[in-house]
Amino acid sequence: MKLRELIPPGAKDYFRLLRAKIRFRDSLIGSPAVSVQARIGIGCRVGGSVLVNHNVTIGNYTYVNSFTMIGSGEIGNYCSLGYYCSIGMHQHPLHFLSTSPMTYHSSGVLGVQSDWNDFFAPPKIGHDVWIGNAAQIMQGVCVGSGAVIGAGAIVTEDIPPYSIAVGVPARVLRKRFDDETIQYLLNWNWWDLEPEELKKFGGHFGKADWSDACIGRLKL
Ligand SMILES: CC(C)(COP(=O)(O)OP(=O)(O)OC[C@H]1O[C@@H](n2cnc3c(N)ncnc32)[C@H](O)[C@@H]1OP(=O)(O)O)[C@@H](O)C(=O)NCCC(=O)NCCS
Repeated sequence: MKLRELIPPGAKDYFRLLRAKIRFRDSLIGSPAVSVQARIGIGCRVGGSVLVNHNVTIGNYTYVNSFTMIGSGEIGNYCSLGYYCSIGMHQHPLHFLSTSPMTYHSSGVLGVQSDWNDFFAPPKIGHDVWIGNAAQIMQGVCVGSGAVIGAGAIVTEDIPPYSIAVGVPARVLRKRFDDETIQYLLNWNWWDLEPEELKKFGGHFGKADWSDACIGRLKL
């Protein structure tokens, strides 16, 4: 009997999970497929069966729900990622003889060395972005801060800040606020504040009429 046969099923995942939990101890990590080479800020929550690739950056206080895959990209603070989303996944070459990585990756069956980069344009996702279930964000796009991506959308072009985009391909449905309010929020950058500092403004979060009370009274 080989030594590796003595290792109980799941043990590898257990140690990977443990390693990720230790590496990102300021966040809650629930998946062994979170690369310890990724960068994850503090106060994040990453659910079960989530893939976070080595080249991914996630800011602070962002959550990623189960079964979401992040192949590449930069994700800001206070973002909310639904279940079964795909962000910046691998692209295969369209101009090579074959699109199969088996034929152009050094680890493939042909042992061919190529200069193809699966992640040539990682997407950029701003702060306070809400991404609905099963949405897909393709490489090369920027999603502005405060934007909402509807469930099932496929985002192939940039989405401006504080826009709600839905559909395949994703199109902007409307803006969340008027231009003055959006500019105010983008200047404020509240997402860069620590929760302790944000608590000062706590009364404005969780209220539908926050902007009337907030604009003009908060110091930018
Ligand atoms: C996009 C969303 C935020 C709603 O935004 P809204 O501005 O309130 O949109 P409305 O419900 O008023 O719908 C406006 C139009 O968009 C359409 N629409 C709404 N959500 C859509 C979606 N995800 N995909 C395609 N079309 C959608 C509606 O059918 C409606 O179309 P119509 O004008 O032709 O009738 C919501 O539908 C959504 O997708 N939420 C994500 C839920 C989720 O995945 N949660 C995961 C928890 S993290």
